[in-house]
Amino acid sequence: MKKTQKKIKVLVVHGPNLQLLGRREVSVYGKSTLKDINADLTGAAIQLGIEIDFFQSNHEGELVDKIGTAADAYAGILINPAAYTHTSIAIRDALLGCGLPAVEVHLSNIYQREEFRHKSLTAPACRAQIAGFGRDSYRLGLTGLVRIVRQPAKSAGRQRRKI
Ligand code: DQA
Repeated sequence: MKKTQKKIKVLVVHGPNLQLLGRREVSVYGKSTLKDINADLTGAAIQLGIEIDFFQSNHEGELVDKIGTAADAYAGILINPAAYTHTSIAIRDALLGCGLPAVEVHLSNIYQREEFRHKSLTAPACRAQIAGFGRDSYRLGLTGLVRIVRQPAKSAGRQRRKI
């Protein structure tokens, strides 16, 4: 990368209750805390040569506000909408409206769990989804997102589908 070239900046959005990771349903989500996950992502960001910011909220409107202004500063969004995955048309619309490529991640394999978790309202507004790799879902998701951001035209042709 040329010295004058600006680094890609990615926004990581953590949804409700993820601040409890490490002590929340450990048999499902594991012992890693959100701090551990953010540290993994910071390390991955350095390796990928990108910048990264983090945002966690338990409030749907705050998540919508953050996503809505993300295009001013970021090239892509890595998001775990947590329970809002299954309920939030507002977050889905924010993801579509901001125009940024997004990748959805989940620690657990939501398709192996209760039926109400099988449907993601937000995934169709994202370019890809990764679920079931525990804390590694985030690092894998970030790697995929950076690939999409760096090759937008190619990936868009292959992956975009009608919502
Ligand atoms: C989750 C899965 C959601 O169904 C759940 O509500 C969460 C976490 C995951 O990362 O596996 O809070 O998004």
